[in-house]
Amino acid sequence: MLAGKRILLLISGGIAAYKCLDLIRRLRERGAAVRCVLTQGGAQFVTPLSLAALSEDKVYSDIFSLTDESEMGHLRLSQEADLVVVAPATADMLAKMAQGLASDLASTLLLATDKDVLVAPAMNTRMWEHPATQANMKTLAARGVLSVGPAEGALAEGEVGMGRMSEPLEIVAAIESYFGAEAPLAGRRAIVTSGPTYEAIDPVRFIANRSSGKQGHAIARALAGLGADTVLVSGPTAEADPPGVEVQHIESAQQMLDTCMASLPADMAVCAAAVSDWRVAKEADQKLKKDAKGTPPRLALATNPDILANLAGAGNARPALVVGFAAETENVIVHAQEKRERKGCDWILANDVSPATGTFGGETNRIHLISETGVEDWPRLSKDDVAQRLARRIADHFARAA
Ligand code: C5P
Repeated sequence: MLAGKRILLLISGGIAAYKCLDLIRRLRERGAAVRCVLTQGGAQFVTPLSLAALSEDKVYSDIFSLTDESEMGHLRLSQEADLVVVAPATADMLAKMAQGLASDLASTLLLATDKDVLVAPAMNTRMWEHPATQANMKTLAARGVLSVGPAEGALAEGEVGMGRMSEPLEIVAAIESYFGAEAPLAGRRAIVTSGPTYEAIDPVRFIANRSSGKQGHAIARALAGLGADTVLVSGPTAEADPPGVEVQHIESAQQMLDTCMASLPADMAVCAAAVSDWRVAKEADQKLKKDAKGTPPRLALATNPDILANLAGAGNARPALVVGFAAETENVIVHAQEKRERKGCDWILANDVSPATGTFGGETNRIHLISETGVEDWPRLSKDDVAQRLARRIADHFARAA
């Protein structure tokens, strides 16, 4: 259920911080991605190195770090998360949250985020029972902050009482129940294509294109995030395998086609790959040699199969919803409508890449969703937001069709 979910974990300074290491493992086992923000106090109890090793991501800790701010500002950290979890949440951190203080990276993030927040309080019994902490918890609950625990049990100073942080699996259960209402694609299978294809000329050379795979990978992550059992068939890219997604790495268009067809049956297919239109008709067995006169070899090309059209034409095995992309520079809608008919798919996401829009090679897309019923114009969105919006649109489609 947590496949593809991105958890931003804020670790404040309490002895319970050691449990975070296990929490990260448990979340990762379930397919979630975890990114950690460590307060100065938290760093007294766990090291950035252990957190980085377990989360397999950079650990963020200092709001004034110029490199972190330029690479990954505090706003982006929360934008790229599906849920913010504060564990352990110390009395001090809860007080900062209630007061709206922004005195370090974690508290600034909490003040700036528009994502839901789950706190797992951990402190000594008297601190927990103090009217100030109780009032802070009430304030936070009234603002919609979710909480898990604390529990009763042995506390750090040899005392027994209320204030012990919930165990990692209890926190995982709280996170799962938060997302539980959010798995509209559970039980459905998705195939997503992404990235470029490499078409071999000989054992060392190939024809390729500049596709980054960002959009396709984001779509696979978003569909898995809504509970779909997702297969991502990807050409070579620098993108990391999305958590909770079955990734099939391929190189050529023919391999992409074979892998997609072998991944059927599926409920939906989204073709975001930039498949090479041509391949070299006959791949040379040996590296092509320069001849003495320096005459370049002649490469005869053959046309590659169209994967989108093959999936859309897969007869009984055709996914119920087949979605393709169209990058156009002029008459965007008309050309995309023609493409939809020609390839036999259900939806085309037409992307205006004319130089005037600044889309080409950029981080944002301006999409027109073309379906049987007409055209929907989306605002200019980041590739991640396009993916989220598409995944929700697909979930609505299946909900309506059911
Ligand atoms: O024909 P064009 O390349 O513009 O079509 C783009 C759409 O078709 C994209 O969804 C792309 O992933 C898909 N496509 C494909 N196989 C090809 C060529 C394009 O799946 N050989």
